[in-house]
Amino acid sequence: MNCRDTLRINAQGHLEIGGIDTVQLVKEFGTPLYVMDEEHIRKMCGIYRQTIEKEYNGNGLVLYASKALSCLAIYKIVEQESLGIDVVSGGELYTALKAGFPTDKIYMHGNNKLVTELQMAIENKIACIVVDNFTELDILDALCQKYGVQQNILLRINPGVEAHTHQYIQTAKVDSKFGFAISNGSAEQFTQYALTKKNLNLQGYHCHIGSQIFERDSFALATDIMLQFIADMQKKYQFEASVLNLGGGYGIWYTDEDVKTNINCYAEYVKTIITQLRKKAKEYNVKEPFLLIEPGRSIVGEAGITLYTVGNIKEIANLKKYIAIDGGMFDNPRYALYQAKYTACIANRANDKATEIVSLAGKCCESGDFICEDIPLAKANIGDIIAVFSTGAYNYAMSSNYNRNLVPPIVLVKKGRAAYIVKPQTFEDIIRNDVLPEYLK
Ligand code: LLP
Repeated sequence: MNCRDTLRINAQGHLEIGGIDTVQLVKEFGTPLYVMDEEHIRKMCGIYRQTIEKEYNGNGLVLYASKALSCLAIYKIVEQESLGIDVVSGGELYTALKAGFPTDKIYMHGNNKLVTELQMAIENKIACIVVDNFTELDILDALCQKYGVQQNILLRINPGVEAHTHQYIQTAKVDSKFGFAISNGSAEQFTQYALTKKNLNLQGYHCHIGSQIFERDSFALATDIMLQFIADMQKKYQFEASVLNLGGGYGIWYTDEDVKTNINCYAEYVKTIITQLRKKAKEYNVKEPFLLIEPGRSIVGEAGITLYTVGNIKEIANLKKYIAIDGGMFDNPRYALYQAKYTACIANRANDKATEIVSLAGKCCESGDFICEDIPLAKANIGDIIAVFSTGAYNYAMSSNYNRNLVPPIVLVKKGRAAYIVKPQTFEDIIRNDVLPEYLK
C-alpha cells in the first residue's frame, strides 16, 4: 500500500489510524464504523491553502466541496483551517450555519436550486451563488429585488473538457445538465443575460470538469479555455471577470491502479493551474482573477476508513468467495453505482499477505450489493475486522437507510483520541418520521 500516511500497523499486527488501534475502536464503537483521521484532513486543507498563498500571493480561496462529507465537525475543522466551503443544498447550508461557518465564505451550487434554498442563501448573506441557468437568474434577481439586496454571482460554464474519469461522474461534457457550453455560444448568451440583471452582481465564472481526475493537463486545458472565454467576454461586452472558480476533481488513491504518487501531488495540481492562469492572463491580456478551487474528495477521502465485521463466508467452487460483512450499499453505494474500486485488509491481522481473491458482500437484499468484488485479501475468518480504505468521501455522504439498515456512526481520531462526530442511529430514528393515520390503526 502506498500513499497511506494516516495508517500504520502496530506491534500486535493490528491496523492503526490516528494513533489508535482499530481493534480497540471496534471494541469501543462496534461495526460498521466510519473512522476519520483529523490530522489528514487538516494536512490536506493546509496543502491547498498554502499553495495558493505561496504561488498566487494569496489571491484566491480554497472552498471545501462539502458534498464529499457534510457534518458539523467537518465544517468546524475546515473553518479552523481558513477554508471556505461550497454547499449544494439547503441541508448542507443548514448544517454549515449550525456549525457557525462564516457566511462570507459560503458559495452555493446546484442545477435546480429551490426557491427556498435561494431565499435561505440570501437571508444568510452567503458570499456567492453559482447560477446554473436562465430561470435561476430570473428567480434570483426577483428575490434580490424583494429583499432589497445585491447578490454576488458566478455563472456555471461548461468548457467541454473531457477528463479521464468514470463517465457517471463527468460533469462538463458539452452534453451536461450543468451550466452552459462555450462551444455552442450558450455561455455567451448566459453572460449577456446575467449582465442585464440589476440586482445581481456578476463576478465571474465557474467550471468543474469532473471528479477523480489525475491528468494535470485536463486542469490546464480548462484554465486556458476559461481565460479565453473571459477575454472574449471582455472584448465583446466590456465585462471584466474578477473571479474564476475552477471546481475540484483531484484524484485520490483507492487502489494501486491509481497513479497518484504522494501527497505533494495536490500542490502540483494547484501550481499547474496557477502557472497556466498567469501565462494565459498575460497572453489574452486580462487581469489575473481571484482564484477559487473546490476540492472535496481529496480533502476527506483518504482520511477515512470503514470497519466491518465478517459475519459469514461462502465459497462457490471455481466461481467466487463471498465474505459477508455487516455493512453494504447503505453505507457505501459506490461499487453498486460506479463499480468503484477499493482496497481492503483484515484489520486485526494486517500483516497477513493477501492470498485469496474474494468479494466483500453487503447485507442488503440486492445481488449487486458489494463493497468490493474480486479483490485480493488474506484468508478471512468469521469475526475478523475488515478495513476498507479511502472511504472518507462520498460514503457517509451517500449513505441511506435502505432495507432500514442503520447508517453507521463516524468517529474522529487524532493522536490516540477518538470521539463521535456522528453518533449511531437507532431504530427509533428510523421510524421517527413514519406516521400511522388514525384510519389505519
Ligand atoms: N465542485 C463542484 C461543482 C462539483 O460538482 C464537485 C463534485 C466538486 C466541486 C468536488 O469534486 P471532488 O474534488 O470531490 O472530485 N458521488 C461521486 C462524486 C460526485 C462528484 C460531484 N461533484 C463519487 O462518489 O465518486
